[in-house]
Amino acid sequence: ISARAAADRRYLWEEVSHGVDETHHVAPGYSAEILIRWGDPVFADSPPFDPMNQSAAAQRKQFGYNNDYLGYIGLPLGSDNPDHGLLCVNHEYTNEEMMFPGIGRQDNKGFADMTEELVDIELAAHGGTVIELKREGGRWRVVTDGQYNRRITGGDTEMEIAGPAAGHYRMKTSADPAGVVCIGTLNNCAGGITPWGTYLMAEENFHHYFGGILKNGHPEARNYRRCGVPSDWCAWPKFHKRFDINAEPNEANRFGWVVEVDVFDPNSRPKKRTALGRFKHEGAEPIVNSDGRVVVYMGDDQRFDYLYRFVSEGRYSPDDRPANMDLLDSGTLSVARFYEDGSLEWLPLVHGEGPLTAENGFYSQADVVIEARTAADMLGATPMDRPEDVEPNPWADKVYVMLTNNSARTADAVDSPNPRGPNHFGQIVELSPPEGNHTAERFTWELLVVAGNPKYSESGAMYHEATSENGWFGSPDNCCVDARGRLWVSTDQGPNWMKTGNADGLFGLETEGDLRGYSKMFFRTPIGAELCSPRFTADNGTLFVAVQHPGTDGTEHFPGFERNSTFEDPATRWPDFTEDMPPRPSVVVIQKNDGGEIGT
Ligand code: FEO
Ligand code: CA
Ligand code: CA
Ligand code: CA
Repeated sequence: ISARAAADRRYLWEEVSHGVDETHHVAPGYSAEILIRWGDPVFADSPPFDPMNQSAAAQRKQFGYNNDYLGYIGLPLGSDNPDHGLLCVNHEYTNEEMMFPGIGRQDNKGFADMTEELVDIELAAHGGTVIELKREGGRWRVVTDGQYNRRITGGDTEMEIAGPAAGHYRMKTSADPAGVVCIGTLNNCAGGITPWGTYLMAEENFHHYFGGILKNGHPEARNYRRCGVPSDWCAWPKFHKRFDINAEPNEANRFGWVVEVDVFDPNSRPKKRTALGRFKHEGAEPIVNSDGRVVVYMGDDQRFDYLYRFVSEGRYSPDDRPANMDLLDSGTLSVARFYEDGSLEWLPLVHGEGPLTAENGFYSQADVVIEARTAADMLGATPMDRPEDVEPNPWADKVYVMLTNNSARTADAVDSPNPRGPNHFGQIVELSPPEGNHTAERFTWELLVVAGNPKYSESGAMYHEATSENGWFGSPDNCCVDARGRLWVSTDQGPNWMKTGNADGLFGLETEGDLRGYSKMFFRTPIGAELCSPRFTADNGTLFVAVQHPGTDGTEHFPGFERNSTFEDPATRWPDFTEDMPPRPSVVVIQKNDGGEIGT
């Protein structure tokens, strides 16, 4: 049989076509229904969403903006219940021009007409949502009176600072002279669910929120330059002094962490796990190593930044949840150095070792984790093409690293894991821990696919030859491994979709055997959206995806639209399609019409 026919036996759906229009598309034979939208109630007493009369108080009780990571925890705790569970949702950032009437398109100094009230709505629209879900009669619904339902926000939720940086002088502020409690979490991109049923939120582009002037004499000059703080990009520092690096010089050290939430105690303070380092965390999907230690792989999403790994010191106890609750406070953080011979070395970021000493400004492990990027620079980590999601595959003892793109890599600066310059479409690198040992010092690695359109040889794209003209993708971002060990990849091309002419989407990607590198499209987003967070239930019967920022990126190039998309004049009104509703980031739930396993 042909390779294509063989592929169709394992990826049994009719492929969605590339293209772009105002709505979403899923493979025939599947339903893709809206589960929850920005502004929808999270609690029984949440006020109804009124886009013309928004308030921070209402937003604190409503589903936040720009849903990104989705985690699913079956109920009761410890079960894999595919019909009843908690959905854990990150709300990464806000699009002021799409959220609020009269704001319009940003200039490079942010949104001139933002007010304190609007900024407070933005703070409340950030963070996360934990919400109970139930499937009855084949249909999913949110349970607004669920006992674990919770909104976590950027402006209100108290968080504990835990691990080596807790209480360090560089974490102290006027509001928190002890350096142990931070208000809020920001720019939560991807994340993870731990085996003990907690939710990890990864803080990514925290620099966006900070303003002020970084002078050489600023105590955090080296650190903040390396992170792009202040970006002076939004209106927040005008109304909240803690986001002004001159008024509050340490506040930006309190963001850029992985946050752990005990979803089974809705009153608990989430904990910023500083042992996992401070950088622009894309995600944090953990795996338990064969010896019981917990391993978390993490990308730092910026051009030429690094791939990290954390290995816990303690071991996971399957029967003792309290014993696991602080596992992420001690362990070893390492950064990856790739070699041309196909090997990879994990370089530990440990105070006192190698260059990580007082002469270089590292007086303790707190300094190492606060300035993890600078520490990694000194160790000689390999600069990568924007490491996004990293997902271990427990069925195959592999780890997949999404490298989304890097327009700034030049042709003379390529290497084998980052083989193109400029790199517009990204690539996926597969890591192999030796004998499945995720704590090993050395791994091997291979390219799984080089993204882009393989029809054009100058693109340098590499897929299995059976991949159709609809199966290739650009800019891999999030990914997951389903209950059959198959990899699924969602994309975020940003405005690059206008060059490919294709909206973002979800692709099944073969990683093993003769069909390795075969890719097939399953779901497509509405115009201007990216697709985040594919998440399957344990029986592969339900797939949750998050459609982020519909109607934004690159819409000014959409034939027939050709102008900036705004609240008043959006490129799409997905998913409501009513004149009184702007487009709304939403979670979509996908099921097979015959109730069977997805993708088979
Ligand atoms: Fe928030 Fe790297 O995407
Ligand atoms: Ca995003
Ligand atoms: Ca992302
Ligand atoms: Ca991205």
